[in-house]
Amino acid sequence: MSGEAESGKAQLAFDGRTVDLPVLTDHIGQRAVDIRNLRKDAGLTAFDPGFANTVSCRSGVSYVDGEAGRLVYRGYAIEDLADNCTFIEVAYLLLHDRLPTRPQLEQFSVLMNRHSMIHEDMITFFAKYPEHAHPMAVLSAMVVSLSSFYPELEESESEELDITATRLLSKLRTIAAFSYKKSIGEPFVYPSYKLSYCANFLNMMFSSPVRDYPMDPMLVRAMNQLLILHADHDQNCSTSTVRLVGSARVNLYACIAAGICALWGPLHGGANQEVIEMLELIHKQGGNVDGVIEKAKDRKDPFRLSGFGHRIYKTYDPRAKIAKRICQEVLGKLGVSDPLLDIAMRLEEKALADPFFVERKLYPNVDFYTGITYRAIGFPTDMYTVLFALGRLPGWISQWQEMVRDPEQKIWRPRQLYTGQNNLPFVPIDKR
Ligand code: ACO
Repeated sequence: MSGEAESGKAQLAFDGRTVDLPVLTDHIGQRAVDIRNLRKDAGLTAFDPGFANTVSCRSGVSYVDGEAGRLVYRGYAIEDLADNCTFIEVAYLLLHDRLPTRPQLEQFSVLMNRHSMIHEDMITFFAKYPEHAHPMAVLSAMVVSLSSFYPELEESESEELDITATRLLSKLRTIAAFSYKKSIGEPFVYPSYKLSYCANFLNMMFSSPVRDYPMDPMLVRAMNQLLILHADHDQNCSTSTVRLVGSARVNLYACIAAGICALWGPLHGGANQEVIEMLELIHKQGGNVDGVIEKAKDRKDPFRLSGFGHRIYKTYDPRAKIAKRICQEVLGKLGVSDPLLDIAMRLEEKALADPFFVERKLYPNVDFYTGITYRAIGFPTDMYTVLFALGRLPGWISQWQEMVRDPEQKIWRPRQLYTGQNNLPFVPIDKR
């Protein structure tokens, strides 16, 4: 798609003079003041903690309309992709900017199988982690370690990138499953050429040398859908981390490891684990949701309703809508009656009727319902954010690829307002 065009000038009156700043409008009508010359022309910088008003890059990977509750990947609505595609198909779409033909998808799947194992020497790494190690810690460390086992990407073009991307997509799944097996003290189950991406993952997670995993196509479909929901989300915290780290031109593995660390935070991808822990606590305390709502509203209490609110969405997160539907379908078909689903639905109903949440436009986000489905499938709580990372990986790689190909991208280096001291006389060590 074409880039933006200059559509006018904004005037900044300051210090008795006026500076003209170009206004850029993209092809869907979003406008941004171009402040690239602000310091040079006006001696000013822009203060925007949290970057809530800062456009950091151009991107064609995904688009979030926070007012309409709409999300598209490479032009396609999330609802259509989740209903009709496999995760690997969507990963191909994000990486290549087009949906694959059947032969292209088959070739991508072949590559995915070819790269699914990790170097045997890496297996020994798992042994040294304590059993209670959080799998996100293991995942990030293992991903950065991949850089010492596999060649760095010399070029961001075509074939080499394809191999590195598939290597990452395929191996992250293996590392994720191995980190779980290590945490429960079971032997690793290796990937199989016979299984599709999600089926392979479920098999590595839940089968063992003495126990087959009865593969349920309904769960494979749910896994595909859930990973698709997480595949990209414009310039969120972990994606911006991947870009920021990548702007220093470090290798892709290191950028992805940094993204995994950012995702781990409870305000970001870590919220899916927090939601379940919050729901479990409510359940343990008798199931009354009012106390949690009041606590979340208390301005003196740092507690927030996990899985609620979003920087961009000011209406229902479209991913949360789909995740809620998947959750109800999976629990229904498995015949699971999870009291946490009932608590979550009551919590949602109460919050959406409460003026505090209504005024602030706080709705369930993608993390609110996913954990209940993961729980029904059999994933332990601390694996939820790992599943988010698996889903987000094609988005991170696509955004990184876009960045390194953009001739205007520079190293990311924000400025600050200084709050420290200045001009202190130096005090020799014996006189301090
Ligand atoms: N519970 C209670 N109050 C909330 C919540 C919440 N979940 N989210 C926002 N608010 C309140 C804030 O306290 C603030 O109130 P105030 O205006 O009285 O000070 C107002 O709503 C605006 O909140 P901000 O913090 O300014 O919103 P921001 O865009 O910075 O934060 C965030 C977005 C981090 C997602 C926030 O809503 C939050 O902490 N949610 C809970 C954690 C969560 O679910 N994270 C997952 C996000 S989705 C994702 O990353 C995949």
